Amino acid sequence: MTDPSRTDPAAAASSRAGDGGGAADAQPRTPRELVARGRQFLERHGVTEPRLDAELLVAHALGLERLKLFLELDRPVEAHERDAARALLVRRAKGEPVAYVTGTREFYRYAFNVDARVLVPRPETELIVDRAREWAKDRLFPSGGPRVADIGTGSGCLAVTLALELDGSNVVAVDLSADALELARENAVRLGADVGFLEGDGLEPLAGLGGRAFDLIVSNPPYVDRKDTASLAAEVRDHEPHLALFGPDEDPDHWAVHLANEAGRFLSPGGVLLVELGYDQWPRIEARMPAGVEVRVHKDLAGHQRVLEVQAPEA
Ligand SMILES: C[S@@+](CC[C@H](N)C(=O)[O-])C[C@H]1O[C@@H](n2cnc3c(N)ncnc32)[C@H](O)[C@@H]1O
Repeated sequence: MTDPSRTDPAAAASSRAGDGGGAADAQPRTPRELVARGRQFLERHGVTEPRLDAELLVAHALGLERLKLFLELDRPVEAHERDAARALLVRRAKGEPVAYVTGTREFYRYAFNVDARVLVPRPETELIVDRAREWAKDRLFPSGGPRVADIGTGSGCLAVTLALELDGSNVVAVDLSADALELARENAVRLGADVGFLEGDGLEPLAGLGGRAFDLIVSNPPYVDRKDTASLAAEVRDHEPHLALFGPDEDPDHWAVHLANEAGRFLSPGGVLLVELGYDQWPRIEARMPAGVEVRVHKDLAGHQRVLEVQAPEA
């Protein structure tokens, strides 16, 4: 890509686009001009949503939420704001996910801090929260609320959101990555969620917490097929942690099958497991589900079979 130390991305984009910004070295004078030039710059570097990303990055540089930016589009910009926007645009043009550049991503209306230690939370994962809330709403729990475990917590988006959304819940979150847990813990504290964090492999850390101690186990496990690495978007492949993307043993179905077969040891009678699936995963794993339990699959907004639900037998 262009050497960022020699070019003002916004000005260069402006001169090519002929957007009225003046000569190539003219400085954008307003947030509106910054966004327009930033959009052109990102477009030239092949960013797929250049307008949205330019708005997010300019808003971030100006210390504003994106919607507030639209109220300040025509006020003058300071030199330090231009410099800050330029630095963010250059990082994005180099392929870094916009959430890592701004350091934040919204999940279920909560703002999570994110960086290269964790997967960027995805909107489809919110379906697990919707389903968990629906499941919990008419139930009575002896301990006042559901006891919840999140396996592979990453940023903590599921564990923290469930702790905040499910009244009286008691939530623990597991990850193999100590780095991810550090960030998840920060998110929990910042968002005021009471979550316990355990470092370890899959369901193993739950073994020390007593048999069948959970009413709900959730997981968005790694499920990308290593064979598909080349077709992954570069911003995912080159920036997000591979521990979060790829399951063990070259088997993208490992976690969904393992959790479905093993979670019963940790679930209370009638308790539920919710696992996110890849968009084409369900037909491959259907025959590998355990016998004698109720299994359902919930579709996401795009119609993909996205969340596997396995209910442990009632007592
Ligand atoms: C797809 S990410 C999901 C992160 C977060 N729950 C979300 O939905 O955005 C999977 C997470 O599982 C963790 N992980 C990978 N292998 C694991 C293992 N063997 N035991 C526990 N966690 C693991 C990764 O570190 C990563 O944080």
